Amino acid sequence: MFNDIYKNKRVLVTGHTGFKGTWLTTWLLNLGAEVAGYSISVPTTPSHFDVLQLEDKIQHHFGDIRDYKHLLKVCQDFKPEFIFHLAAQPLVRDSYENPRETFDVNMIGTLNVLEVIRQLKEVVKVGVIITSDKCYDNVEWVYGYREDDRLGGEDPYSGSKGAAEIITKSYMHSFFKQGFPNVCSTRAGNVIGGGDWAKDRIVPDIVRSWSENNPVEIRSPYSTRPWQHVLEPLGGYLCVGAKLYEENSEHRNQAYNFGPDAKVNKNVGELIDEMEQRWDNSPGWINKYIDDGKKEANLLKLCCDKANINLEWHPVMGFEETMDFTMSWYTNFYFDKKSVFEFTNNQINLYTSKAKERGIKWSLNE
Ligand SMILES: NC(=O)c1ccc[n+]([C@@H]2O[C@H](COP(=O)([O-])OP(=O)(O)OC[C@H]3O[C@@H](n4cnc5c(N)ncnc54)[C@H](O)[C@@H]3O)[C@@H](O)[C@H]2O)c1
Repeated sequence: MFNDIYKNKRVLVTGHTGFKGTWLTTWLLNLGAEVAGYSISVPTTPSHFDVLQLEDKIQHHFGDIRDYKHLLKVCQDFKPEFIFHLAAQPLVRDSYENPRETFDVNMIGTLNVLEVIRQLKEVVKVGVIITSDKCYDNVEWVYGYREDDRLGGEDPYSGSKGAAEIITKSYMHSFFKQGFPNVCSTRAGNVIGGGDWAKDRIVPDIVRSWSENNPVEIRSPYSTRPWQHVLEPLGGYLCVGAKLYEENSEHRNQAYNFGPDAKVNKNVGELIDEMEQRWDNSPGWINKYIDDGKKEANLLKLCCDKANINLEWHPVMGFEETMDFTMSWYTNFYFDKKSVFEFTNNQINLYTSKAKERGIKWSLNE
């Protein structure tokens, strides 16, 4: 898998205590990497980070991504060959409440990571900067956004991710043109999966309610979202990271979209029906849809042709399997209570064996 490139390599993950960061850290451990993490705190209770007991399995650092000197010191000591940058203020609603902090963390945090990569160019070979599909200016197209489309974003979160992209592009073109380090930016949409307890996200909100035996009230049952399992974009980040471990890689200074197949087009009500089928005696949901006559903004879709063709990256799972993975994780956590680390690791193994069966290139070591 990934041509065994991560085996025995030192990898720093920022945002390692968060939803995506914990899955990425566990996958990297599974691949034989030595991992260090840098995050400001553990963002939720419960948290995937705590239940996986990752603190005992990696070199764990608490620190603010805006604290350049501290971040530099951690990297000088650990000497990572790879950096995956995921630390961010990732919630749109919070970005309206705290716009300045959102811009600060998402822009200056990215700037600091890039500057560390620049200062440690003898050590760091690969930097993968994780932004978001929301970095694009959503002009209500029905078709998917491409990597060269205009950046933008009306809410502060989206604006901060567009800004992080502009900072990244400037560093790539000013400092990373020759030899190592190789840097790229990656853009994915909303993901689901076990171990997420963030607020204002549909799956965590429902699971939280059901675990307390309460029904959920849903205001937008007819909205469609690009549901994708968290392992899908992480496979993309690892895939491009491995390809960047080659001097003068053609993938450096590029941006890549990682999104679901366009046909995965289910609405919130359909998602909840699938969740109910996988949760014994669910307390159900209450339809609180209010038709205010306002048309919903067109779903922002990503065009993933560039990743499909240049990286031979493709999504592995369909909607049903995504729901199986997600709900079996939560039912294990709340009811069966088998070791979470084993359960999460087994899901990674199952996901990679499905990738092999389906001939996905990164899984085949060719
Ligand atoms: N989850 C999604 O659906 C989704 C979709 C698109 C993009 N993303 C992006 O992926 C990345 C990870 O998202 P997530 O869902 O895992 O979020 P999360 O909230 O679960 O985790 C965020 C992580 O960032 C860390 N962090 C926050 N502020 C920090 C600071 N000032 N200094 C250091 N660390 C800080 C937190 O401690 C945590 O480890 C983010 O960049 C996010 O914008 C996520």
